[in-house]
Amino acid sequence: MKQLKLKILLMYRDLYNVFFTRGKQSLEKTGLKALDEIIARANKPTDFSDHLVPLFNETLLCKPKLIVELGTRGGESTFVFERAAELCGSTLLSIDMDDCSGSCAYPKWNFVKSDDVAFAKKFKAWCRNKQLPRQVDLLFIDTSHLYEHTAQEIQAWFPLVSENGKVIFHDTNLAYFYFHADGSMDVAWDNQRGVIRALEEYFGCCWNEKFAFTDVQNGWLIRHQPHCNGFTVLDRLSNNVTRKRRG
Ligand SMILES: C[S@@+](CC[C@H](N)C(=O)[O-])C[C@H]1O[C@@H](n2cnc3c(N)ncnc32)[C@H](O)[C@@H]1O
Repeated sequence: MKQLKLKILLMYRDLYNVFFTRGKQSLEKTGLKALDEIIARANKPTDFSDHLVPLFNETLLCKPKLIVELGTRGGESTFVFERAAELCGSTLLSIDMDDCSGSCAYPKWNFVKSDDVAFAKKFKAWCRNKQLPRQVDLLFIDTSHLYEHTAQEIQAWFPLVSENGKVIFHDTNLAYFYFHADGSMDVAWDNQRGVIRALEEYFGCCWNEKFAFTDVQNGWLIRHQPHCNGFTVLDRLSNNVTRKRRG
């Protein structure tokens, strides 16, 4: 029965894509090898392909000393972080409960096989041992996409993010179907708004994740893109900006 349902969904997807895919701009080479490799990878549509270049841009612009990636799997996001980290001289730490130790060749890459919430408690000691800063400049969360687990990740990891740090979530708009930026559609699963709901609860507000939005909540600038299952970027604002907002 499940197989049949999937077959029907995939047929619907194929038919939909014949009529509604808009195509996208094909870029010349930029001359920055790392970015060109990422653009080339993004040409193969996946549930994360639209976010590869934005993830590179966000990383490069925040010049992180330490990047922490929660959820590695086949290494789509790791591919981007590896390249951005090399340009910024960052250390990259990836955590996954499965063994993903072969996902990256970057010399400053560390992989820890662990439950991410459990590891958060050991994070400072781990950093001390490795003589690394004990704060995360860029935290990327892309794991179970379940509400309770995401809420635990927020509680465990947000206090470890540095004063001007950035947090990026994938799958903040997960449902049976998702759309790429070029209008084409693919099949996913319904997580009952698990990730975005955990964020809404943390910030005490409501969003419609089907649309792009920018918001400011509790000293964070929050930017959201709905396509490819959702990509939400949180930047800690300086006290100056937060004071002006209140004034
Ligand atoms: C969606 S995949 C990650 C995709 C990856 N970021 C990429 O771009 O290719 C989710 C990963 O999270 C891991 N994961 C799920 N729950 C976890 C947990 N509690 N702690 C650590 N890793 C977890 C899974 O093993 C899986 O590899």
